[in-house]
Amino acid sequence: MPYAHITGWGMAVPEGVLTNDDLAKIVDTNDAWIRERTGIRERHIAKENEFPSTLGVEAAFKALKVANVRPTEIDLIICTTSSPEYLFPATACLIQDQLGATKAGAFDLLAACTGFIYALNMAAQAIRSGSIKTALVVGSETLSRFIDWKDRGTCILFGDGAGAFVLQASDQPGGVLSAVMHSDGSGGDSLSIPAGGSRQPATESTVHANKHYIQMDGKEVFRFATRVMASATQEALDAAGLTVDQIKWIIPHQANIRIIDAAARGLKLPMERFIVNIDRYGNTSTASIPIAMVEAIEKGQIKPGDKLVLVGFGAGLTWGALTAEWTGPIPSKGHIRPEQYRLFGRLRSFVRRAIRFIEGLLYRREL
Ligand code: UT7
Repeated sequence: MPYAHITGWGMAVPEGVLTNDDLAKIVDTNDAWIRERTGIRERHIAKENEFPSTLGVEAAFKALKVANVRPTEIDLIICTTSSPEYLFPATACLIQDQLGATKAGAFDLLAACTGFIYALNMAAQAIRSGSIKTALVVGSETLSRFIDWKDRGTCILFGDGAGAFVLQASDQPGGVLSAVMHSDGSGGDSLSIPAGGSRQPATESTVHANKHYIQMDGKEVFRFATRVMASATQEALDAAGLTVDQIKWIIPHQANIRIIDAAARGLKLPMERFIVNIDRYGNTSTASIPIAMVEAIEKGQIKPGDKLVLVGFGAGLTWGALTAEWTGPIPSKGHIRPEQYRLFGRLRSFVRRAIRFIEGLLYRREL
């Protein structure tokens, strides 16, 4: 059975930064409260022309470059996002088109902030089953578009950004070792965007009632998160036959420093073993784990041979954890530049749209 290795990684965040002091000018809050109660100092916020697909594509090109993989070699793209651009088409298909990933299947996976763990596991399982060789997993968000900037309970928390991993089949042991995924839909109403789906389609009254914004029972989510982070980590370790002492780094979902602290206490581990960057990005939902990992890899903290646990929780309610042995890119001959495919992807997309347009005209004439 092949192993599923993480061989490429990349991240992208919007340039625009919103500090706690900036927020204090629009809602009744202050820097000291936000830092003490959440650990957040600032977050990146997308401009009007930045979307989950554009941020996801930036992160994906970087990941492909590290892995030395062409977009045309990707078999499967999973985009996990809590802020999809449309109900459909899937954001994964927009990414597929912009990358020029001509042979890839593409779909979105919605498990809120646990999405990246679910998606990595799904991609790894597809590789391990032998049905595909190369997968791209993207976690990408512009959740700022769903924030009520008058609600100080939520607007201080979230930020925008994207992270992407390339996964490849290899005969060498390592890569994704185990994963656990959980859900409890009875808690779905504690964190939701109530309107805009088929239960409450957009109407004047849903807009007036602010139902297209994130609504959250912060305390309830906090309690749930502190319960599940340590237990999910332990379960994933048991599934891989590992002990916590064998783990070099834990990469938690970056939602609140106090939740990460509670997980550390639950596992009886010092905070130094946790990768934390919430201070500079806030909660970027599905992108928070890959962004934290990419930074840690680029700083040289995560090294080949390190055993890791990724652990998260989110709306749904969902939670899960995944263990992996870090190996890095598979050595390969030659050096490809996936960014050169950017132009190819655009051109191909344009030509396909033009062909579709011409076919439409011809078909109409035939009727
Ligand atoms: O990916 C999953 C996403 N969600 C989460 O992870 C959320 C989990 N929950 C949390 O992180 C925390 O519950 C929050 C950060 C949202 C809130 O922190 P808290 O310590 O639970 O605060 P609280 O709601 O208990 O409020 C404490 C006090 C209240 O004042 P009083 O009633 O004690 O006078 C709030 O009104 O702090 C007040 N408060 C604020 N003050 C300044 C609440 N939000 C703010 C604020 N600035 N932004």
